[in-house]
Amino acid sequence: MIDFKGVSKTYPNGTVALDDVNLSIDKGEFVFVLGHSGAGKSTLLKLMMREEKPTSGSIIVGSYDLNKIKNREIPYLRRNIGMVFQDFRLIPTMTAYENVAFAMRVTNIPLRDIRKRVPYILHLVGLAHKARVYPTELSGGEQQRVALARALVHNPPIIIADEPTGNIDPDLSFEIMELLTEINRLGTTVVVVTHEQDMVRQFNRRTVKLEKGSVVFDTGKVGVR
Ligand SMILES: Nc1ncnc2c1ncn2[C@@H]1O[C@H](COP(=O)(O)OP(=O)(O)OP(=O)(O)O)[C@@H](O)[C@H]1O
Ligand SMILES: [Mg+2]
Repeated sequence: MIDFKGVSKTYPNGTVALDDVNLSIDKGEFVFVLGHSGAGKSTLLKLMMREEKPTSGSIIVGSYDLNKIKNREIPYLRRNIGMVFQDFRLIPTMTAYENVAFAMRVTNIPLRDIRKRVPYILHLVGLAHKARVYPTELSGGEQQRVALARALVHNPPIIIADEPTGNIDPDLSFEIMELLTEINRLGTTVVVVTHEQDMVRQFNRRTVKLEKGSVVFDTGKVGVR
């Protein structure tokens, strides 16, 4: 599903964010990406979404070879990936409901289906009561859950979440992780970036650790609960 071969990324200012990363994630896997601040975790995710290009190496995501992908194909690549960004990236002029609905509206889904699906997903992330509220009126954790709802809403084959529990209290973090686990159980490939060692221990899934841009360990597939 996701395959990195010899991938390096040096930013224009000379910062080496990734250095010869090899990583292969199968369809239906659940993978934690662990590492200190600056280790290259967000860069790894940005390369998967084609938000950044690698300096060298090859990246395959689904049926796309990202070294060969055409610009007009990039929106289709991104439709396969539900991304929860570390900085949320909600649209400030839209309510929670509209932010989630917008992700569906761009894909020709009938309005009737959107009106059913959006409240269901907001309920799933515990935000049914905040549907009409704007991002600035939400707490960090609530904004994060809107971002998660938006990533889940069109049922993509891959979910990539950058610190989805970063701004959330421990109980809610656990629930969000349970939700991602459940989505994975239904067949979605899930990649979760986190700092939280505790969470990783608790959920006992494949863990890839980055340090200074390199993979320093990879547990490989771990028995599913
Ligand atoms: N656009 C950019 N231009 C230059 N350097 C960058 C850019 N984005 C990230 N970096 C640098 O690349 C390295 C990896 O950054 P990255 O954002 O991937 O780290 P991270 O593991 O996600 O960290 P955090 O846990 O703090 O989010 C860091 O040294 C960072 O300063
Ligand atoms: Mg990051």
